[in-house]
Amino acid sequence: MRKIVILISGRGSNMRAIVQAAKEQQWPAEIVAVISNKADASGLEYAASMGIATVVVASRDFTSREAFDAVLQQEIDRFAPDLVVLAGFMRILTTPFVTHYSGRMLNIHPSLLPSFTGLATHRQALTAGVRIHGTTVHFVTPELDHGPIIAQAAVPVLPGDTEQSLAERVLVQEHVIYPKAVRWFVEGKLTLEGDLVHIGAESTESAGIACVG
Ligand code: GRF
Repeated sequence: MRKIVILISGRGSNMRAIVQAAKEQQWPAEIVAVISNKADASGLEYAASMGIATVVVASRDFTSREAFDAVLQQEIDRFAPDLVVLAGFMRILTTPFVTHYSGRMLNIHPSLLPSFTGLATHRQALTAGVRIHGTTVHFVTPELDHGPIIAQAAVPVLPGDTEQSLAERVLVQEHVIYPKAVRWFVEGKLTLEGDLVHIGAESTESAGIACVG
């Protein structure tokens, strides 16, 4: 069994989608812990209700990123994970931390990377006037919201969209592609070649989803 640790900062709907998919699809993997940098992250309750170990490393108690990341790394490594999954974990990570999990840490970002890195991606998309928006699952590298792309889903930007309506449309697709990408990882189907990700030939599912309407 592969061991997965999931990091969250808030409601954890992606974490929930991954936990449910792992259970329903009987992945060769176990979510061994959910760790939050915020004690009031509502996703922690769900994780605990599923019998998953929960840990809080409160970022506000630390004065430097380096000190926080060092303790976070210790807590993660207590569970000896094969994979670390960032699921709405709202922290900029230090290079030593990212390097420690090189090739075994994934993130989901709510835009079609390389467009719209950073925060407020739905606002950025509306301001830019793009007609297509979406979400990306990628390996984490030291540069924020960069890193080899595993899967993407595109959604239309519709007349009258607000940040919230667009975020909701994107989130539905996040819950599709993130569990899929994590499953590929735990099944050993992903290989990295430089900046490119290859998905095992036996995989019948597409790594790109285009949604209509
Ligand atoms: C998602 O939109 C994800 O792409 C971004 O933060 C949000 C987290 O949502 N990184 P949730 O906590 O998984 O519900």
